[in-house]
Amino acid sequence: MEIVIREDSDHVARTVADIIEGYVRRGPAVLGLATGSTPLASYKELIRRHREEGLSYSEAQAFLLDEYVGLPVEHPESYHSVIRREFTDHVDLDPSSIHSPGGAAPDLAAEAIRYDRSIASAGGVDVQILGIGTDGHVGFNEPMSSLSSRTRVKTLTEQTRQDNARFFDSLDDVPHHVLTQGLGTITDARHLLLIGLGEAKADAIAAAVEGPLAAACPASVLQLHPHVTVVVDEAAASRLKFADYYRHTLDNKPAWQAF
Ligand code: GLP
Repeated sequence: MEIVIREDSDHVARTVADIIEGYVRRGPAVLGLATGSTPLASYKELIRRHREEGLSYSEAQAFLLDEYVGLPVEHPESYHSVIRREFTDHVDLDPSSIHSPGGAAPDLAAEAIRYDRSIASAGGVDVQILGIGTDGHVGFNEPMSSLSSRTRVKTLTEQTRQDNARFFDSLDDVPHHVLTQGLGTITDARHLLLIGLGEAKADAIAAAVEGPLAAACPASVLQLHPHVTVVVDEAAASRLKFADYYRHTLDNKPAWQAF
């Protein structure tokens, strides 16, 4: 696990964009995209590079982590709508190459199996962007999610519903259920890129990176993965015990060593 501490969210976004750009320029890339507010600045930077620097996503495919159950796809807060509004509508990604779990599917168990198969038949995800919930969730894998879970329906904690209420008219409008890639599905991706921004994420980032491997902090499953990059701002890094070591490592990173 490599921990990259940047001074602010702009620098975090540039680092994330550098990593994603590397995959996109190397050939047909399978990108794992996350919603939520955390990756927004990174998506803006990737859009800017498309417009100003000729970065083309025409050969890429994208898979979303999760979706609310019961929201129609055209609802403005469905993740299907959000990722289009915030990122993919502004680049040259083929709309037929953007995949997400169908939270409005009549048979959610069958939809979960279909979604995992569609990721596998694309060859798996090359690089998966992740945010983190204040309770340590990734995707929508709430505490005590099986560390080897596959895509399935989960029930949101009230803490997560309250955290996400800002995107809806009221707390009552936030769905209770979601369809999310499991922790096993997520960790099948070949490179995991976890972003943490702000003081509100400092405890979750510390638990994920330095805490025990435990379903109580679902993001701690990243400790088992062979290729993880955690990109955080100073505020999100503020409870990391080994922060000085991570800075030292970065300061001495050999020029030939990529993220
Ligand atoms: C959301 C999403 C996650 C996201 C997390 C943090 O509910 N399901 O993919 O990473 O919770 O959200 P935010 O980035 O808005 O803080």
